[in-house]
Amino acid sequence: MDKDPIRFIRSDFSDLIPYAGVESPEQVSEILKIPIGSVVKLDANENPYPPIDAILEAVSNAPLNVYPDPNQTFLRESIASYVGVDPKQVVAGAGSDDLIDIVIRLLEPKMSVSAVPTFGMYKFLSNNSGIRHIEVGRNENFEIDILEIEKAVLKGANLILLASPNNPTGNSLRPDEIEKLVELDAVIVIDEAYAEFSRESVIPLIEKHPNLLVLRTFSKWAGLAGIRIGYSVSHTEFARRMMAIKQPYNVSTVADVAARAALEHRVEVLDSVSLLISERERLIRELSEFSFFKVFPSDANFVLVQVLEKKAEDVVKFLRERGILVRYYNMPTLSGMIRISAGRPEQTDALLKALRDFEENYVKA
Ligand SMILES: Cc1ncc(COP(=O)(O)O)c(C=O)c1O
Repeated sequence: MDKDPIRFIRSDFSDLIPYAGVESPEQVSEILKIPIGSVVKLDANENPYPPIDAILEAVSNAPLNVYPDPNQTFLRESIASYVGVDPKQVVAGAGSDDLIDIVIRLLEPKMSVSAVPTFGMYKFLSNNSGIRHIEVGRNENFEIDILEIEKAVLKGANLILLASPNNPTGNSLRPDEIEKLVELDAVIVIDEAYAEFSRESVIPLIEKHPNLLVLRTFSKWAGLAGIRIGYSVSHTEFARRMMAIKQPYNVSTVADVAARAALEHRVEVLDSVSLLISERERLIRELSEFSFFKVFPSDANFVLVQVLEKKAEDVVKFLRERGILVRYYNMPTLSGMIRISAGRPEQTDALLKALRDFEENYVKA
């Protein structure tokens, strides 16, 4: 008998590429031999401000010995009142990534489609479920190509996944684009992970367009990326079925109480969002001063920069050696580009200082 266990694994998983996440600050501090507190982490669009006391208190009092509520009763109520919908329209998950996975499994679409460059999870999770994923391009301003999306739908793609604001390009979908998208014969997922930074949402359109499903997260605005908590807002029937197929305990007790505390104290939590929006604007202004950068506008908590005269890898390496982490993508649709998250003012100071050193040594020299 052939004892090789690999032969039992799905054949389409033989060449699956793992999702490339970012290095943890611990790893970087060990590799670079610098204290963890000196790592300037601007590579994952996280909120650099620590959770407010009310969240820490809720987490420390969470009943860890009991299972979380599989119906997410109070959490769904709090989220629903935050976004102005019925709790029955809300489903919470272990980050919005979990909701993307649930939607894909619920629909088992013939094909899914996204507009690249974009968040890699749409393709990754589609392929993970054995779903063919089509990537259509964007124009030079990273606007979507509705005709190409329509063509994909005609070919059989019945799930469209678009982020607004889009990661890593920072631009949002325009109202006229949304109007066209919702008329397509498909489910349209609009991922609003950065909505608190753009202060815009398509959630009010769900009532008129039940094929629209919106994803949101607490990872960015509320600074809870490590706790893993996100949610979807959709047509009630859609949500009911998502609730039925999700893992019962997909939201941990800690995530449940942390998210509710964030919503209860949202005025205070949103202070950090205002600070990050100011810092994003500062980044756009100050990075544009460098002759070797082209900076794209952004509605999110990060900016995308094209490195003009030098190699993007050289800039990224130079910054990394100084403990400053930014995101570099080794892919054709983002060639020569880096993404920099908005951080605290002192982190922007450190970044700008390092870039001036780079300019002095490698550009002007
Ligand atoms: C567009 C987009 N959606 C979703 C996520 C992930 O959200 P979560 O942490 O809730 O899984 C990210 C994270 O970078 C993102 O950029």
